[in-house]
Amino acid sequence: MAKISVIGAGNVGATAVQRLAELEIGEIVMTDVVEGLPQGKALDLMQAGAVMGYDTKIRGSNDYADIAASDLVVITAGIARKPGMSREDLINTNAGILKEVASNIAKYAPESLIINVTNPLDIMTYVALKASGFKSEKVFGMSGVLDSARFASFIAKELNCSRRDVEAMVIGGHGDLMVPLPQYTTVSGIPLPELLSEERISSLVQRTVQGGAEIVELLKRGSAFYAPSASIVKMVEAVLKDSKRIVPASAYLKGEYGQEDIYFGVPAKLGAGGVEEVLELALDAKQLETLQKSAASIREGIAGLSL
Ligand code: APR
Repeated sequence: MAKISVIGAGNVGATAVQRLAELEIGEIVMTDVVEGLPQGKALDLMQAGAVMGYDTKIRGSNDYADIAASDLVVITAGIARKPGMSREDLINTNAGILKEVASNIAKYAPESLIINVTNPLDIMTYVALKASGFKSEKVFGMSGVLDSARFASFIAKELNCSRRDVEAMVIGGHGDLMVPLPQYTTVSGIPLPELLSEERISSLVQRTVQGGAEIVELLKRGSAFYAPSASIVKMVEAVLKDSKRIVPASAYLKGEYGQEDIYFGVPAKLGAGGVEEVLELALDAKQLETLQKSAASIREGIAGLSL
């Protein structure tokens, strides 16, 4: 039985635990700094199992020692955005949290893989790499699955078709400079540009880029968590089932897309080894330009950290 630990029992973390529990994919430990919070949610979720019909063991804890022997650790600890904030505004607080969390993962679960979800995503995943000292393929971030899900849902609404038939691809940093790729987005195998005009696509691209902020503005306190937690589950399943799924993920680059020593959203093959391959796509000039800008802004964020 696999063991999954989720650090941070807030909206994203606890909802991810709920989804994972329902799948019965492994035993789960959920930790948080707030005393009682993970324990209370773990009890509640196990009681839900009596209704929903799952037997997943869920343990809430405030002690890192309980993550020992985890196969996979998902980091959702940190503060979330409030209206008017960019993901980058979270950088200092969350970098401190990430350092503490990742060094404890290295201490108590040295054989695990790490999926980081805390924002600003690509920068915090870099912090997780450095603070854990893990090999880079074992540390990656959840961003592109979520951004692609947002793009796919807007496309399905526009075309009045099933969301299930849309396979979207969004790469680049998880921020205002992300790069949705219409030419690699299909609806039942049909390339998106054959179904929608350039103007319509560009308006959906724009809404996708602002997709997180749109929800933050509506919620007023806190940020999205249903689609983020669903996106975590997709990645956890790919790793635990060693299914070699190709999904956009924040992966450590070693020259791909002309980038080195940076975490960046790219199509990645996920399996038991973590990121087993990064796929390079041909892009048009404008996409390449935005990609470079996006990478530059991540580098700026990393340069400002004291690692
Ligand atoms: N160790 C463990 N948990 C921590 C720590 C820490 N050092 N610091 C904070 N936490 C916990 C908080 O107590 C809280 O329960 O992290 C949890 C965060 O939950 P929420 O505030 O509900 O935030 P959430 O919406 O889950 O977002 C978490 O994911 O999507 C990103 O931008 C988002 O960075 C944010 C993260």
